[in-house]
Amino acid sequence: METNLDWSNLKFSYYPTDYNVRCYYRNGQWGEIEQTSDVNIPIHMAASCLHYGQECFEGLKAFRCPDGKVRIFRMEANAERMQQSCRGIMMPPLPTEKFCEMVKRVVRLNSRFIPPYESGASLYIRPLVIGISPRVGVQPSEDYLCVMFVAPAGPYFKGGFATNNYVIMRNYDRAAPQGTGRYKVGGNYAASLCANHEAHDSGYAGEFYLDPGEKKYIDECGACNFFGIKNDTYITPMSTSILPSITNDSLRTIAKDIGMKVEVRHVPEEELATFEEAGGCGTAAVISPINRIDDPEAGLSFQISKDGKPGPWSERLYKAYRNIQYGIEPDKYGWTTVIDLD
Ligand SMILES: Cc1ncc(COP(=O)(O)O)c(C=O)c1O
Repeated sequence: METNLDWSNLKFSYYPTDYNVRCYYRNGQWGEIEQTSDVNIPIHMAASCLHYGQECFEGLKAFRCPDGKVRIFRMEANAERMQQSCRGIMMPPLPTEKFCEMVKRVVRLNSRFIPPYESGASLYIRPLVIGISPRVGVQPSEDYLCVMFVAPAGPYFKGGFATNNYVIMRNYDRAAPQGTGRYKVGGNYAASLCANHEAHDSGYAGEFYLDPGEKKYIDECGACNFFGIKNDTYITPMSTSILPSITNDSLRTIAKDIGMKVEVRHVPEEELATFEEAGGCGTAAVISPINRIDDPEAGLSFQISKDGKPGPWSERLYKAYRNIQYGIEPDKYGWTTVIDLD
């Protein structure tokens, strides 16, 4: 069936497609993969995901490429991160093989929603795992459900690669120092909603969190990791409360390939004044370059971009990254999976 969507103007939001895929964990093991057009999940009112937040998720993308092939980016890395999230909240990890099979199946089943290359849009894939057994006391579930659905997502930069302003939110933490910040669990995102809302209300593209222990170091930038660049060096925070971004991991590898040095370490807030370039990085934007970061509570403001534009290293990193995703440059690290649509 033909799909006539205004691909370039799609937002990043839920969009109904043809199928989703599911897999249940019962009697101590993951079962067969099922496919359905039903968008609802029958769920017990006492399910552990509803009361005690036993839920984790992932986010990855499939791209229609200029050579006509469809590539999924870093599917195995997402599988492994979801396993870590599962272990972090006492859920059984979904094996990589099963994860990848589900991803390929849900993409194939909804192939008419994979946007054309020229649109700059992609197919976003959302896997999630929830605890479904009834629980009233605080305890992990016995049974689990993994669901994967997709949504065509428009290009992040409609008017081209551009910078944004961000604000440091000293009155909020999204995670505790030894808490669940390193896992992709729903509770972290619930904890970020107020800060994010306030940042947007004040005209910023997003919120920054300082490390929740000492409030001295840069932690995360909304639903993105942070990086700063100076002296040909890519610097990104080391922290126990941030999500290990797969985009960040890939950018560090590319940075070395294009001749940069890479440092993963604490980034004190005052160091922001010394960066020549900075950005947030994540699946949604790859890189969201930063113009300025304000810290209103401390009366500070850090102007990063000198001319309001993304810097040269950010441009190079972004292009190299996109070229691998689109199969334009050799995929020497085996990050992409070409999927057969027939
Ligand atoms: C809190 C948080 N940090 C960082 C990222 C970036 O991670 P990735 O590059 O794997 O998309 C995300 C998005 O997934 C996120 O939700």
